Amino acid sequence: MSIVFDEKSKVFCLVTRNTEYQIKINEIGIVLHTYYGKRVGGYDMSYLYRKMDRGFSGNPYECRNKRGMSSDTLPQEYSTDGAGDYRVSALSVRLSNGSGTCDLRYRGHDIFSGREELKGLPYVRAEEDKVDTLRLYLEDKTAGLLVTLSYQVFEEKDIISRYTVIKNESEEALFIDKAASACMDIVGKELDLISFHGRHAFERQPERRRVGHEISRISSKRGTSSHHNNPFVILCDRDTGEWHGDSYGVMLIYSGEHAQEIEKDQAGSIRVVSGIADDHFRWKLTPGEEFVTPEAMLAFTDKGLSELSCLFHRIIRENICPEQFRSIKRPVLMNNWEGTYFDFDDEKIMDIADSAAEAGCEMLVLDDGWFGERNDDHAGLGDWVVNKNKLRSGLARIADHVESLGMKFGLWFEPEMVNEDSDLYRTHPEWALTDPDRKPVMGRDQLVLDMSRPEVVDYLYESISAILQSAKISYVKWDFNRSLANVFSRGVPSDRQGEVSHRFVLGSYDLMERLRESFPDVMIEGCSGGGGRFDAGIMFYSPQIWCSDNTEAINRLRIQKGTSYAYPVSTIGSHVSASPNHQTGREVPLMTRAIIAMAGTFGYELDPRQLSEDDKAMIREQIKTFNRFYDLIQRGRYLRLSDDLDEEYFTSWGFVSEDRSEALVSLVVTDVRANPEVMYVKMRGLDPDALYEVDNVLSSCERVPENEAGARENIVGQTYSGAALMNGGYAIDPMFGCYPSIQVHFVKK
Ligand code: GLA
Repeated sequence: MSIVFDEKSKVFCLVTRNTEYQIKINEIGIVLHTYYGKRVGGYDMSYLYRKMDRGFSGNPYECRNKRGMSSDTLPQEYSTDGAGDYRVSALSVRLSNGSGTCDLRYRGHDIFSGREELKGLPYVRAEEDKVDTLRLYLEDKTAGLLVTLSYQVFEEKDIISRYTVIKNESEEALFIDKAASACMDIVGKELDLISFHGRHAFERQPERRRVGHEISRISSKRGTSSHHNNPFVILCDRDTGEWHGDSYGVMLIYSGEHAQEIEKDQAGSIRVVSGIADDHFRWKLTPGEEFVTPEAMLAFTDKGLSELSCLFHRIIRENICPEQFRSIKRPVLMNNWEGTYFDFDDEKIMDIADSAAEAGCEMLVLDDGWFGERNDDHAGLGDWVVNKNKLRSGLARIADHVESLGMKFGLWFEPEMVNEDSDLYRTHPEWALTDPDRKPVMGRDQLVLDMSRPEVVDYLYESISAILQSAKISYVKWDFNRSLANVFSRGVPSDRQGEVSHRFVLGSYDLMERLRESFPDVMIEGCSGGGGRFDAGIMFYSPQIWCSDNTEAINRLRIQKGTSYAYPVSTIGSHVSASPNHQTGREVPLMTRAIIAMAGTFGYELDPRQLSEDDKAMIREQIKTFNRFYDLIQRGRYLRLSDDLDEEYFTSWGFVSEDRSEALVSLVVTDVRANPEVMYVKMRGLDPDALYEVDNVLSSCERVPENEAGARENIVGQTYSGAALMNGGYAIDPMFGCYPSIQVHFVKK
């Protein structure tokens, strides 16, 4: 059992392979968070917290003569409002008498092996892992509230997940104004905060700063997890780097409005609270009702950011993404969006399919524009019936043609949206989220459907199911192309409008779940204008998500690197698009574009009819190479090999298989120079005593690099010891030209 309770000291230890998380019930029943870090063998770590009388930090009534005891300075597992803790709170309620005070005390606990599934919300699946659960019951007798903190310990994976259930045990309705998933206080450390900000077409850029006394709030109030602030934060020692140092990761498994709040208090203790954002949230809880928060994942390592990423990559791959798509090889796809945009008909799509098949692609995805009156982005969303003006012979014929070429067929949907110019909106204007007394805010000329209404979810389930049954469709690209505004539902009374943005997310999850149950072999690729809903919540239904609408390879280096801190390569949708690129106009060689897209799910998004025979031959070689290294790329350990200084010149990353028998190193020169330095890439995770031989090289340069000793034919067959590659580094001679690149595969001899 990875959870131990010591009756005498009242300490709970949650122990994983390398970490320990301690909770202590203090003498007046306050549930304290006393430790999270490397294993300490169950030693009661509560000595770290010194009880001091701090002015203006009040005391619970029963401790009025013990001034060292204050909720304001105690490390808390689940902080509340109104009862003397002035730091960021996890729970905030408004009782029927108007009171906003909540004071939780320990009522009891349960420990059991296994875990309970969350109904209607994504969570960390137990799978084959040994999982133990601790349930802590906290109560506020005066308010009639029972709060259950549920901790799932994934011992081998070094991950603890948490969620909270709030139950109204009183006779009156009350309101929850804030209900976080997790709260944790860390003492005795100066920490840096790393968060991942961005914008449409430039997502998940790491930003690192020292945690100060102000409250840092990493959040979204856009209805989705957003391009702008990802629901993942890292807290780490000030000197933590890729390969050394303490770091904590907190990831919310949620796709809606979220907030991660980080605050250093007057005594230097640092609190992190993670959960649904409280900006628009107000949940009415009638007597006997429960509210369940989303689940959050926590991880700690003393081995640096690379190891922290690895922990999240593994749990997402193995315990969050749907099982069906874990061990199969997912197809290398050709998407027509940047190839045709809205300008296509069935003949053109079938020609594109022919060319894609010739280039070796394994799936054709028909993107936006195949339904309703969708000839541009002003009309048609909501009408999930084939656009007969464009696809005169119907979907089934295209799908059959694609299948006859030995490829799979995939289709684009944007289920949660509706255009004013659509039959759906004309019939059911009340199904859109709009304020009855105002003109709505428009985004891409579309409105958002009220997913909090079961009849809307039913309509979408039925119309999408009918399409999926009408043709051999193996894949759905599930898009979401605007932020929410005017969040008002005609389906609930005025005192429940604060529930709508969360109910919206629950409605989307319900639709995904129902479609997945009915069509288990259809793979969903998440998308929201690229990476606007790139989160572990969506990954529960969808093993890959389109990472960014920015397909420009050199920009992608930064977007994919930022994404890799939290999410595994197997989830990162990445395609080779045309050159010059449509978003930036930059030209990048085809091989460099492919080497960069191979740090993802890999595919193409261009018009293959425009490809020369040479390009097609090169693409066939790229797909063959990707497929050969598929397991290594999708399941190997991902390494960020270049640092900020290197990246003024080149960017490098790699993969090492779990058994250390092979490795793949990729490098792109982003700032080509005259008479330049040799590039040294220090590899990681190899067997120091083994010999590794280069057995495959891809490069954008004819001669790699352009000197005799470094020519491609001379690189293959070179042998190095693992220790040499890790300590001296792999030496790559200068490369010239336009964004030159190289990918080198090593096998253990
Ligand atoms: C979004 C997606 C794109 C494409 C378009 C179609 O922007 O991210 O990949 O599907 O919608 O309208």
